[in-house]
Amino acid sequence: MTGISRRSFVAAATGGALALAAVPTALASVNALSARHSAARGRREIRVGLIGCGGRGRGAAGNALEASPDARLVAFGDLFPDRIEAAHTGLASFGDRAKVPAAQCFTGFDAYQGVIAVPCDYVILATPPGFRPVHFAAAVAAGRNAFIEKPVAVDPTGIRTMFATAAEVDAKGLRVAAGTQRRHEWSYLEAMQRIKDGAIGQVMAARVFWNMGSLWHVERDPMKSDVENQVRNWLYHTWLSGDHIVEQHVHNIDIANWAMGTHPARCVAVGGRQVRIDPGSFGHVFDHFAVDFEYPSLSNETGAIVERFAMSMARQQDGTAGRVEEVIYGTKGTARLSPGSARISGPVAWTFKGPNNNPYVQEHIDLQKAIIDSTPLNETAQVAASTMTAIMGRMAAYTGAEVAWIDALNDPLNLMPPSLNLGPLPQAPVAMPGQAPKV
Ligand SMILES: NC(=O)c1ccc[n+]([C@@H]2O[C@H](COP(=O)([O-])OP(=O)(O)OC[C@H]3O[C@@H](n4cnc5c(N)ncnc54)[C@H](O)[C@@H]3O)[C@@H](O)[C@H]2O)c1
Repeated sequence: MTGISRRSFVAAATGGALALAAVPTALASVNALSARHSAARGRREIRVGLIGCGGRGRGAAGNALEASPDARLVAFGDLFPDRIEAAHTGLASFGDRAKVPAAQCFTGFDAYQGVIAVPCDYVILATPPGFRPVHFAAAVAAGRNAFIEKPVAVDPTGIRTMFATAAEVDAKGLRVAAGTQRRHEWSYLEAMQRIKDGAIGQVMAARVFWNMGSLWHVERDPMKSDVENQVRNWLYHTWLSGDHIVEQHVHNIDIANWAMGTHPARCVAVGGRQVRIDPGSFGHVFDHFAVDFEYPSLSNETGAIVERFAMSMARQQDGTAGRVEEVIYGTKGTARLSPGSARISGPVAWTFKGPNNNPYVQEHIDLQKAIIDSTPLNETAQVAASTMTAIMGRMAAYTGAEVAWIDALNDPLNLMPPSLNLGPLPQAPVAMPGQAPKV
Protein backbone atom coordinates (compact mmCIF):
# COMPACT_ATOMS: atom_id res chain seq x y z
CA MET A 1 0.00 0.00 0.00
CA THR A 2 1.41 3.39 -0.86
CA GLY A 3 0.19 6.94 -1.03
CA ILE A 4 -2.73 8.67 0.54
CA SER A 5 -4.97 5.61 0.81
CA ARG A 6 -2.39 3.97 3.01
CA ARG A 7 -1.93 7.09 5.09
CA SER A 8 -5.68 7.63 5.51
CA PHE A 9 -5.93 3.98 6.47
CA VAL A 10 -3.16 4.19 9.05
CA ALA A 11 -4.44 7.49 10.41
CA ALA A 12 -7.85 5.92 10.90
CA ALA A 13 -6.49 2.81 12.55
CA THR A 14 -5.84 2.48 16.26
CA GLY A 15 -5.33 -1.29 15.86
CA GLY A 16 -7.46 -4.41 15.55
CA ALA A 17 -10.87 -5.07 14.08
CA LEU A 18 -12.50 -1.94 15.46
CA ALA A 19 -10.04 0.30 13.64
CA LEU A 20 -10.41 -1.73 10.44
CA ALA A 21 -14.16 -1.27 10.55
CA ALA A 22 -13.56 2.49 10.73
CA VAL A 23 -11.61 2.59 7.47
CA PRO A 24 -14.47 3.12 4.99
CA THR A 25 -15.78 5.99 7.11
CA ALA A 26 -12.32 7.53 7.27
CA LEU A 27 -11.84 7.25 3.53
CA ALA A 28 -15.37 8.48 2.83
CA SER A 29 -14.49 11.66 4.66
CA VAL A 30 -11.55 12.43 2.35
CA ASN A 31 -13.75 14.44 0.01
CA ALA A 32 -15.28 16.39 2.87
CA LEU A 33 -11.80 16.92 4.30
CA SER A 34 -10.57 18.31 0.97
CA ALA A 35 -13.55 20.62 0.84
CA ARG A 36 -12.80 21.85 4.38
CA HIS A 37 -9.14 22.38 3.53
CA SER A 38 -10.13 24.32 0.42
CA ALA A 39 -12.60 26.38 2.42
CA ALA A 40 -9.95 27.14 5.03
CA ARG A 41 -7.54 28.30 2.36
CA GLY A 42 -10.13 29.79 0.08
CA ARG A 43 -11.54 27.45 -2.56
CA ARG A 44 -9.45 27.00 -5.59
CA GLU A 45 -10.08 25.32 -8.89
CA ILE A 46 -8.48 22.00 -9.73
CA ARG A 47 -7.66 22.24 -13.44
CA VAL A 48 -7.36 18.98 -15.34
CA GLY A 49 -6.02 18.27 -18.84
CA LEU A 50 -6.96 15.10 -20.71
CA ILE A 51 -4.68 13.27 -23.19
CA GLY A 52 -6.50 10.42 -24.93
CA CYS A 53 -10.23 11.22 -25.18
CA GLY A 54 -11.51 7.66 -25.71
CA GLY A 55 -13.77 5.58 -23.49
CA ARG A 56 -11.54 5.49 -20.40
CA GLY A 57 -10.17 8.99 -20.88
CA ARG A 58 -13.70 10.40 -20.89
CA GLY A 59 -14.54 8.16 -17.93
CA ALA A 60 -11.49 9.31 -15.96
CA ALA A 61 -12.22 12.97 -16.78
CA GLY A 62 -15.77 12.48 -15.46
CA ASN A 63 -14.37 10.78 -12.34
CA ALA A 64 -12.08 13.79 -11.78
CA LEU A 65 -15.14 16.08 -11.91
CA GLU A 66 -17.12 13.77 -9.60
CA ALA A 67 -14.21 13.77 -7.12
CA SER A 68 -14.55 17.49 -6.42
CA PRO A 69 -16.98 20.27 -7.34
CA ASP A 70 -13.86 22.47 -7.69
CA ALA A 71 -12.47 20.38 -10.58
CA ARG A 72 -12.83 21.47 -14.19
CA LEU A 73 -11.38 20.35 -17.52
CA VAL A 74 -9.05 22.82 -19.25
CA ALA A 75 -7.52 20.94 -22.20
CA PHE A 76 -8.28 18.00 -24.47
CA GLY A 77 -5.75 16.17 -26.66
CA ASP A 78 -6.34 13.24 -29.00
CA LEU A 79 -4.83 11.88 -32.18
CA PHE A 80 -8.23 12.18 -33.91
CA PRO A 81 -10.62 15.20 -34.01
CA ASP A 82 -13.74 12.97 -33.74
CA ARG A 83 -12.57 11.87 -30.27
CA ILE A 84 -12.36 15.49 -29.09
CA GLU A 85 -15.96 15.94 -30.24
CA ALA A 86 -16.94 12.73 -28.44
CA ALA A 87 -15.35 14.10 -25.24
CA HIS A 88 -17.43 17.28 -25.46
CA THR A 89 -20.61 15.27 -26.09
CA GLY A 90 -19.88 12.54 -23.55
CA LEU A 91 -19.06 15.00 -20.75
CA ALA A 92 -21.82 17.53 -21.53
CA SER A 93 -23.77 16.58 -18.40
CA PHE A 94 -21.02 18.29 -16.33
CA GLY A 95 -21.93 21.65 -17.94
CA ASP A 96 -19.38 24.47 -17.92
CA ARG A 97 -16.87 22.38 -15.94
CA ALA A 98 -16.35 20.20 -19.02
CA LYS A 99 -16.39 22.92 -21.70
CA VAL A 100 -12.92 23.25 -23.17
CA PRO A 101 -12.28 26.17 -25.56
CA ALA A 102 -11.23 25.22 -29.09
CA ALA A 103 -7.83 26.91 -28.56
CA GLN A 104 -7.12 24.36 -25.81
CA CYS A 105 -8.10 21.28 -27.87
CA PHE A 106 -5.22 19.60 -29.71
CA THR A 107 -5.05 16.81 -32.29
CA GLY A 108 -2.31 14.75 -33.94
CA PHE A 109 0.62 12.77 -32.55
CA ASP A 110 1.93 15.90 -30.77
CA ALA A 111 -1.45 16.72 -29.14
CA TYR A 112 0.05 15.73 -25.77
CA GLN A 113 2.51 18.62 -25.99
CA GLY A 114 -0.34 21.09 -26.47
CA VAL A 115 -2.22 19.77 -23.42
CA ILE A 116 0.90 19.75 -21.24
CA ALA A 117 1.60 23.39 -22.15
CA VAL A 118 -1.83 24.53 -20.82
CA PRO A 119 -1.44 25.45 -17.11
CA CYS A 120 -3.21 22.79 -15.01
CA ASP A 121 -3.04 20.91 -11.72
CA TYR A 122 -2.78 17.50 -13.34
CA VAL A 123 -3.00 15.71 -16.65
CA ILE A 124 -4.85 12.43 -17.26
CA LEU A 125 -2.90 10.11 -19.59
CA ALA A 126 -5.36 7.69 -21.22
CA THR A 127 -4.07 6.88 -24.69
CA PRO A 128 -3.18 3.30 -25.62
CA PRO A 129 -0.29 2.39 -23.29
CA GLY A 130 2.39 2.24 -26.01
CA PHE A 131 2.47 6.06 -25.86
CA ARG A 132 2.43 6.35 -22.04
CA PRO A 133 6.22 6.49 -21.30
CA VAL A 134 6.86 9.34 -23.75
CA HIS A 135 3.76 11.31 -22.72
CA PHE A 136 4.46 10.83 -19.01
CA ALA A 137 8.13 11.80 -19.31
CA ALA A 138 7.10 15.00 -21.14
CA ALA A 139 4.42 15.81 -18.53
CA VAL A 140 6.84 15.36 -15.63
CA ALA A 141 9.59 17.30 -17.43
CA ALA A 142 7.08 20.17 -17.65
CA GLY A 143 6.34 19.90 -13.90
CA ARG A 144 2.85 18.41 -14.23
CA ASN A 145 1.21 16.09 -11.71
CA ALA A 146 -0.49 13.14 -13.44
CA PHE A 147 -3.11 10.43 -13.38
CA ILE A 148 -1.68 7.57 -15.45
CA GLU A 149 -3.98 4.85 -16.74
CA LYS A 150 -2.69 1.30 -16.55
CA PRO A 151 -0.75 -0.34 -18.11
CA VAL A 152 2.08 2.18 -18.30
CA ALA A 153 4.22 0.67 -21.08
CA VAL A 154 4.30 -2.24 -23.52
CA ASP A 155 8.03 -3.09 -23.56
CA PRO A 156 11.13 -2.97 -21.32
CA THR A 157 12.38 0.24 -22.96
CA GLY A 158 9.15 1.97 -21.93
CA ILE A 159 9.35 0.50 -18.42
CA ARG A 160 12.87 1.85 -17.93
CA THR A 161 11.57 5.28 -18.95
CA MET A 162 8.76 4.93 -16.40
CA PHE A 163 11.16 4.00 -13.58
CA ALA A 164 13.44 6.93 -14.47
CA THR A 165 10.44 9.29 -14.58
CA ALA A 166 9.20 7.90 -11.22
CA ALA A 167 12.48 9.09 -9.67
CA GLU A 168 12.02 12.50 -11.32
CA VAL A 169 8.49 12.72 -9.85
CA ASP A 170 10.00 12.28 -6.36
CA ALA A 171 12.85 14.68 -7.03
CA LYS A 172 10.42 17.38 -8.17
CA GLY A 173 7.84 16.73 -5.44
CA LEU A 174 5.08 15.97 -7.98
CA ARG A 175 2.07 13.67 -7.36
CA VAL A 176 1.02 10.70 -9.48
CA ALA A 177 -1.91 8.28 -9.12
CA ALA A 178 -2.29 5.19 -11.32
CA GLY A 179 -5.43 3.59 -12.77
CA THR A 180 -4.96 0.28 -10.91
CA GLN A 181 -8.26 0.92 -9.20
CA ARG A 182 -8.11 -2.09 -6.86
CA ARG A 183 -5.41 -0.16 -4.94
CA HIS A 184 -8.04 2.51 -4.18
CA GLU A 185 -10.99 0.20 -3.40
CA TRP A 186 -11.92 -0.15 0.28
CA SER A 187 -12.60 -3.91 0.11
CA TYR A 188 -9.10 -4.53 -1.29
CA LEU A 189 -7.45 -2.03 1.07
CA GLU A 190 -8.99 -3.65 4.13
CA ALA A 191 -8.26 -7.21 2.94
CA MET A 192 -4.67 -6.36 2.10
CA GLN A 193 -4.14 -4.65 5.47
CA ARG A 194 -5.43 -7.80 7.19
CA ILE A 195 -3.07 -9.93 5.08
CA LYS A 196 -0.12 -7.65 5.98
CA ASP A 197 -1.20 -7.94 9.65
CA GLY A 198 -0.87 -11.74 9.43
CA ALA A 199 -4.47 -12.94 8.91
CA ILE A 200 -3.33 -15.71 6.52
CA GLY A 201 0.21 -16.13 7.89
CA GLN A 202 3.13 -15.73 5.48
CA VAL A 203 2.01 -15.22 1.88
CA MET A 204 3.27 -18.17 -0.14
CA ALA A 205 1.30 -18.35 -3.38
CA ALA A 206 -1.39 -16.76 -5.50
CA ARG A 207 -3.68 -17.65 -8.38
CA VAL A 208 -4.86 -14.67 -10.42
CA PHE A 209 -7.41 -14.79 -13.25
CA TRP A 210 -8.96 -12.60 -15.93
CA ASN A 211 -10.89 -15.07 -18.05
CA MET A 212 -13.69 -13.66 -20.20
CA GLY A 213 -15.17 -13.43 -23.68
CA SER A 214 -14.00 -11.08 -26.40
CA LEU A 215 -13.68 -7.28 -26.16
CA TRP A 216 -14.61 -4.69 -28.80
CA HIS A 217 -12.76 -4.49 -32.11
CA VAL A 218 -12.80 -2.15 -35.12
CA GLU A 219 -12.80 -3.77 -38.58
CA ARG A 220 -9.98 -2.73 -40.92
CA ASP A 221 -11.01 0.17 -43.20
CA PRO A 222 -9.13 0.07 -46.54
CA MET A 223 -9.62 3.86 -46.91
CA LYS A 224 -7.52 4.49 -43.80
CA SER A 225 -3.74 4.15 -43.38
CA ASP A 226 -2.18 1.13 -41.66
CA VAL A 227 -1.30 3.24 -38.62
CA GLU A 228 -4.81 4.71 -38.27
CA ASN A 229 -6.32 1.22 -38.59
CA GLN A 230 -3.96 -0.14 -35.96
CA VAL A 231 -4.45 2.75 -33.52
CA ARG A 232 -8.25 2.58 -33.84
CA ASN A 233 -8.05 -1.19 -33.24
CA TRP A 234 -5.19 -0.86 -30.77
CA LEU A 235 -6.06 -3.76 -28.42
CA TYR A 236 -4.88 -6.22 -31.09
CA HIS A 237 -1.43 -4.72 -31.77
CA THR A 238 1.30 -5.36 -29.24
CA TRP A 239 3.18 -2.10 -29.93
CA LEU A 240 0.07 -0.26 -28.73
CA SER A 241 -1.55 -2.53 -26.09
CA GLY A 242 1.14 -4.95 -24.95
CA ASP A 243 -1.39 -7.78 -25.69
CA HIS A 244 -4.24 -8.58 -23.31
CA ILE A 245 -2.00 -10.03 -20.61
CA VAL A 246 -0.53 -6.53 -20.25
CA GLU A 247 -3.57 -4.42 -21.18
CA GLN A 248 -6.12 -6.16 -18.95
CA HIS A 249 -4.58 -8.90 -16.80
CA VAL A 250 -2.14 -6.37 -15.28
CA HIS A 251 -4.94 -5.60 -12.76
CA ASN A 252 -4.77 -9.14 -11.32
CA ILE A 253 -0.99 -9.48 -11.61
CA ASP A 254 -0.75 -6.21 -9.64
CA ILE A 255 -2.61 -7.89 -6.76
CA ALA A 256 -0.18 -10.85 -6.75
CA ASN A 257 2.75 -8.41 -6.53
CA TRP A 258 0.97 -6.38 -3.82
CA ALA A 259 0.34 -9.49 -1.69
CA MET A 260 3.86 -10.88 -2.24
CA GLY A 261 5.39 -7.48 -1.47
CA THR A 262 7.64 -7.70 -4.53
CA HIS A 263 7.81 -8.69 -8.20
CA PRO A 264 8.67 -12.18 -9.52
CA ALA A 265 12.25 -13.26 -10.19
CA ARG A 266 11.44 -15.36 -13.27
CA CYS A 267 8.61 -17.00 -15.17
CA VAL A 268 7.64 -19.59 -17.76
CA ALA A 269 4.45 -19.27 -19.80
CA VAL A 270 2.21 -20.73 -22.49
CA GLY A 271 -0.23 -18.92 -24.74
CA GLY A 272 -1.63 -18.76 -28.22
CA ARG A 273 -4.38 -17.72 -30.60
CA GLN A 274 -7.16 -20.20 -31.31
CA VAL A 275 -10.37 -18.23 -31.71
CA ARG A 276 -9.51 -14.66 -32.72
CA ILE A 277 -7.51 -15.57 -35.80
CA ASP A 278 -8.66 -13.05 -38.47
CA PRO A 279 -5.77 -10.56 -38.77
CA GLY A 280 -8.05 -7.85 -40.25
CA SER A 281 -10.17 -7.86 -37.10
CA PHE A 282 -7.78 -9.07 -34.42
CA GLY A 283 -4.27 -8.02 -35.45
CA HIS A 284 -1.65 -10.45 -34.23
CA VAL A 285 -2.19 -10.80 -30.45
CA PHE A 286 -2.91 -14.00 -28.51
CA ASP A 287 -6.31 -14.90 -27.04
CA HIS A 288 -5.03 -16.88 -24.03
CA PHE A 289 -2.05 -16.93 -21.67
CA ALA A 290 -1.04 -18.90 -18.57
CA VAL A 291 2.09 -17.98 -16.64
CA ASP A 292 3.94 -19.50 -13.71
CA PHE A 293 5.64 -16.61 -11.89
CA GLU A 294 8.37 -17.54 -9.38
CA TYR A 295 8.84 -15.03 -6.56
CA PRO A 296 11.94 -14.78 -4.35
CA SER A 297 12.04 -17.59 -1.77
CA LEU A 298 11.30 -16.94 1.89
CA SER A 299 12.44 -18.42 5.14
CA ASN A 300 9.16 -19.61 6.66
CA GLU A 301 8.04 -19.66 10.30
CA THR A 302 9.98 -22.91 10.94
CA GLY A 303 13.17 -21.55 9.35
CA ALA A 304 12.84 -23.65 6.17
CA ILE A 305 13.50 -21.91 2.83
CA VAL A 306 10.35 -22.18 0.73
CA GLU A 307 9.61 -21.23 -2.86
CA ARG A 308 6.77 -18.81 -3.63
CA PHE A 309 4.85 -18.56 -6.88
CA ALA A 310 1.80 -17.11 -8.60
CA MET A 311 -0.19 -18.84 -11.30
CA SER A 312 -1.69 -16.33 -13.72
CA MET A 313 -4.35 -17.08 -16.33
CA ALA A 314 -5.90 -14.71 -18.88
CA ARG A 315 -8.31 -15.63 -21.67
CA GLN A 316 -10.51 -13.66 -24.10
CA GLN A 317 -12.59 -16.34 -25.86
CA ASP A 318 -16.36 -16.21 -26.31
CA GLY A 319 -18.39 -19.07 -24.86
CA THR A 320 -15.80 -19.96 -22.21
CA ALA A 321 -16.10 -19.83 -18.42
CA GLY A 322 -15.56 -16.35 -17.01
CA ARG A 323 -13.48 -15.70 -13.89
CA VAL A 324 -11.97 -12.43 -12.65
CA GLU A 325 -10.44 -13.07 -9.23
CA GLU A 326 -7.30 -13.14 -7.13
CA VAL A 327 -6.73 -15.92 -4.57
CA ILE A 328 -3.87 -15.46 -2.09
CA TYR A 329 -2.53 -18.44 -0.10
CA GLY A 330 -0.71 -18.06 3.22
CA THR A 331 0.69 -20.52 5.75
CA LYS A 332 -2.50 -20.11 7.85
CA GLY A 333 -5.33 -19.21 5.51
CA THR A 334 -6.61 -18.07 2.12
CA ALA A 335 -7.91 -14.72 0.83
CA ARG A 336 -10.31 -14.50 -2.16
CA LEU A 337 -10.61 -11.07 -3.76
CA SER A 338 -12.55 -9.56 -6.63
CA PRO A 339 -14.03 -6.11 -7.15
CA GLY A 340 -16.66 -5.54 -4.44
CA SER A 341 -15.94 -8.80 -2.64
CA ALA A 342 -13.23 -9.95 -0.23
CA ARG A 343 -13.07 -12.80 2.23
CA ILE A 344 -10.47 -14.56 4.30
CA SER A 345 -10.75 -18.16 5.50
CA GLY A 346 -8.61 -19.66 8.23
CA PRO A 347 -8.32 -19.02 11.96
CA VAL A 348 -9.06 -15.27 11.49
CA ALA A 349 -12.00 -15.65 9.10
CA TRP A 350 -13.47 -12.42 7.74
CA THR A 351 -15.85 -11.25 5.02
CA PHE A 352 -15.98 -7.68 3.76
CA LYS A 353 -19.44 -6.34 4.51
CA GLY A 354 -19.09 -2.82 3.07
CA PRO A 355 -19.85 -0.10 2.48
CA ASN A 356 -17.58 -0.09 -0.56
CA ASN A 357 -16.51 2.92 -2.63
CA ASN A 358 -16.21 3.73 -6.33
CA PRO A 359 -12.46 3.20 -6.83
CA TYR A 360 -12.43 5.09 -10.15
CA VAL A 361 -13.56 8.25 -8.34
CA GLN A 362 -11.41 7.49 -5.28
CA GLU A 363 -8.27 7.55 -7.47
CA HIS A 364 -9.01 11.21 -8.23
CA ILE A 365 -10.07 12.06 -4.66
CA ASP A 366 -6.71 10.71 -3.46
CA LEU A 367 -4.71 12.53 -6.16
CA GLN A 368 -6.55 15.84 -5.70
CA LYS A 369 -6.12 15.66 -1.93
CA ALA A 370 -2.37 15.03 -2.29
CA ILE A 371 -2.08 18.02 -4.65
CA ILE A 372 -4.14 20.35 -2.43
CA ASP A 373 -2.48 19.28 0.82
CA SER A 374 1.02 19.00 -0.69
CA THR A 375 1.41 15.44 0.61
CA PRO A 376 3.46 12.82 -1.25
CA LEU A 377 1.78 10.40 -3.68
CA ASN A 378 3.73 8.56 -6.36
CA GLU A 379 2.27 5.27 -7.63
CA THR A 380 4.49 5.21 -10.74
CA ALA A 381 7.06 2.59 -9.71
CA GLN A 382 4.39 0.24 -8.34
CA VAL A 383 2.32 0.24 -11.55
CA ALA A 384 5.50 0.08 -13.66
CA ALA A 385 6.61 -3.05 -11.75
CA SER A 386 3.25 -4.73 -12.29
CA THR A 387 3.24 -3.74 -15.97
CA MET A 388 6.77 -5.16 -16.31
CA THR A 389 5.62 -8.41 -14.66
CA ALA A 390 2.91 -8.75 -17.31
CA ILE A 391 5.36 -7.88 -20.11
CA MET A 392 7.74 -10.55 -18.81
CA GLY A 393 4.89 -13.09 -18.90
CA ARG A 394 4.15 -12.12 -22.50
CA MET A 395 7.83 -12.39 -23.48
CA ALA A 396 7.93 -15.92 -21.99
CA ALA A 397 4.72 -16.97 -23.80
CA TYR A 398 5.69 -15.45 -27.17
CA THR A 399 9.19 -16.97 -27.16
CA GLY A 400 8.71 -20.18 -25.18
CA ALA A 401 11.81 -19.24 -23.16
CA GLU A 402 12.10 -19.08 -19.38
CA VAL A 403 12.54 -15.37 -18.67
CA ALA A 404 14.34 -13.83 -15.67
CA TRP A 405 13.18 -10.41 -14.38
CA ILE A 406 16.64 -8.89 -14.61
CA ASP A 407 17.06 -9.98 -18.25
CA ALA A 408 13.57 -8.88 -19.25
CA LEU A 409 13.94 -5.49 -17.58
CA ASN A 410 17.27 -4.84 -19.34
CA ASP A 411 16.14 -6.19 -22.72
CA PRO A 412 16.53 -3.65 -25.57
CA LEU A 413 13.04 -4.49 -26.95
CA ASN A 414 11.34 -1.28 -28.12
CA LEU A 415 8.09 -1.83 -30.04
CA MET A 416 7.43 1.81 -31.00
CA PRO A 417 7.82 2.37 -34.78
CA PRO A 418 10.87 4.56 -35.48
CA SER A 419 8.78 7.36 -37.00
CA LEU A 420 5.12 8.06 -36.33
CA ASN A 421 2.72 9.32 -38.96
CA LEU A 422 -0.60 8.10 -40.33
CA GLY A 423 1.12 6.07 -43.07
CA PRO A 424 2.06 2.49 -43.90
CA LEU A 425 3.02 0.05 -41.15
CA PRO A 426 3.05 -3.69 -41.82
CA GLN A 427 1.24 -5.68 -39.15
CA ALA A 428 3.55 -7.69 -36.87
CA PRO A 429 3.38 -11.49 -37.33
CA VAL A 430 1.74 -13.74 -34.74
CA ALA A 431 4.45 -14.88 -32.30
CA MET A 432 5.42 -18.55 -32.60
CA PRO A 433 7.00 -19.98 -29.42
CA GLY A 434 10.38 -21.51 -30.16
CA GLN A 435 10.80 -19.31 -33.24
CA ALA A 436 9.51 -15.91 -32.26
CA PRO A 437 11.50 -12.74 -31.91
CA LYS A 438 10.96 -11.24 -28.49
CA VAL A 439 7.74 -9.25 -29.13
N1 LIG B 1 -8.56 1.14 -15.32
C1 LIG B 1 -9.44 0.56 -16.07
O1 LIG B 1 -10.34 -0.13 -15.61
C2 LIG B 1 -9.38 0.75 -17.56
C3 LIG B 1 -10.49 0.44 -18.36
C4 LIG B 1 -10.40 0.63 -19.73
C5 LIG B 1 -9.24 1.10 -20.29
N2 LIG B 1 -8.17 1.39 -19.50
C6 LIG B 1 -6.91 1.89 -20.06
O2 LIG B 1 -7.12 3.22 -20.53
C7 LIG B 1 -6.35 3.45 -21.71
C8 LIG B 1 -7.27 3.89 -22.84
O3 LIG B 1 -8.21 2.87 -23.12
P1 LIG B 1 -9.63 3.19 -23.79
O4 LIG B 1 -10.50 2.04 -23.48
O5 LIG B 1 -10.06 4.54 -23.39
O6 LIG B 1 -9.27 3.18 -25.34
P2 LIG B 1 -9.98 4.06 -26.48
O7 LIG B 1 -9.56 3.50 -27.78
O8 LIG B 1 -11.43 4.20 -26.20
O9 LIG B 1 -9.29 5.49 -26.28
C9 LIG B 1 -7.94 5.76 -26.57
C10 LIG B 1 -7.89 7.17 -27.11
O10 LIG B 1 -6.53 7.59 -27.29
C11 LIG B 1 -6.42 8.24 -28.54
N3 LIG B 1 -5.02 8.16 -28.99
C12 LIG B 1 -4.39 7.10 -29.55
N4 LIG B 1 -3.10 7.40 -29.74
C13 LIG B 1 -2.92 8.68 -29.33
C14 LIG B 1 -1.80 9.54 -29.30
N5 LIG B 1 -0.58 9.15 -29.70
N6 LIG B 1 -1.97 10.79 -28.83
C15 LIG B 1 -3.19 11.22 -28.40
N7 LIG B 1 -4.29 10.43 -28.42
C16 LIG B 1 -4.14 9.17 -28.86
C17 LIG B 1 -7.40 7.51 -29.45
O11 LIG B 1 -7.75 8.26 -30.59
C18 LIG B 1 -8.56 7.29 -28.50
O12 LIG B 1 -9.46 8.36 -28.50
C19 LIG B 1 -5.58 2.15 -21.96
O13 LIG B 1 -4.33 2.19 -21.33
C20 LIG B 1 -6.44 1.11 -21.28
O14 LIG B 1 -5.70 -0.03 -20.90
C21 LIG B 1 -8.22 1.24 -18.15
